[in-house]
Amino acid sequence: MTASVDVKASPDRLYGRHRGHPLRARQQRLMDQTLPRLRFAESAIADPATGFGRAPEQIWLEVGFGGGEHSLAQHAANPDVGYIACEVFENGLCSLLSRVVPEGGEETAPVPDTLRIWDEDARILLQRLPDASIDRMFLMFPDPWPKSRHAKRRFIHPETVKMAARILRPGAVWRVASDDPTYQAWVEEVMGAQDLFETAPPVKQRPEGWPPTRYEAKALQAGRQPFYWTFVRR
Ligand SMILES: C[S@@+](CC[C@H](N)C(=O)[O-])C[C@H]1O[C@@H](n2cnc3c(N)ncnc32)[C@H](O)[C@@H]1O
Repeated sequence: MTASVDVKASPDRLYGRHRGHPLRARQQRLMDQTLPRLRFAESAIADPATGFGRAPEQIWLEVGFGGGEHSLAQHAANPDVGYIACEVFENGLCSLLSRVVPEGGEETAPVPDTLRIWDEDARILLQRLPDASIDRMFLMFPDPWPKSRHAKRRFIHPETVKMAARILRPGAVWRVASDDPTYQAWVEEVMGAQDLFETAPPVKQRPEGWPPTRYEAKALQAGRQPFYWTFVRR
């Protein structure tokens, strides 16, 4: 699928599906048979509660789930929450899907009612979901784009922050984590210059209830210090 929405409001180009190594047979089945059963339908964007197998209590959105560890842990701990997990990288999609259905069950094994996958640029959802329709958002270790000429590609960006604020209900929490010093300073700068979210200084220990991610483990192993922010929609 290719993005077909007006992207003028986006800070930069939208991402299409990212392909890494050629897919193995199991991965191809996950993409062909399991992903369609878990995909958050375009037709549900206007009323996102209808995008799940049963009415969710709240709706949470994760941008760039990577291998899916955080999404799956949040979903397991909060099964009544409708969780929209966004990722464009095929290997990441396969990684999450492979932990949802067993080998051989790609087409038939039951899939969770309240977990859905958006396999296009998350900013399409930020543009098209209704106002105040999301109760919580996660951005865990976004791609840092450390060169200043690539700053427009950073997910935290004045334009994206406005888009996030529109879809988050008042009081909704937006959790952000980053281990990259340039990005950390950038988050402080961008979030310090807006008044749509209440801000607080980041903490340096992963708070309770924040499941670990693969990228975080790599950062810690390499001696980088993650920052964890909690922003609250005013
Ligand atoms: C550095 S990785 C971190 C992955 C994971 N959150 C973790 O902590 O292990 C960032 C991920 O975000 C995904 N990503 C970047 N921009 C995105 C976008 N606009 N929509 C959806 N996914 C995106 C990338 O494909 C990549 O897998």
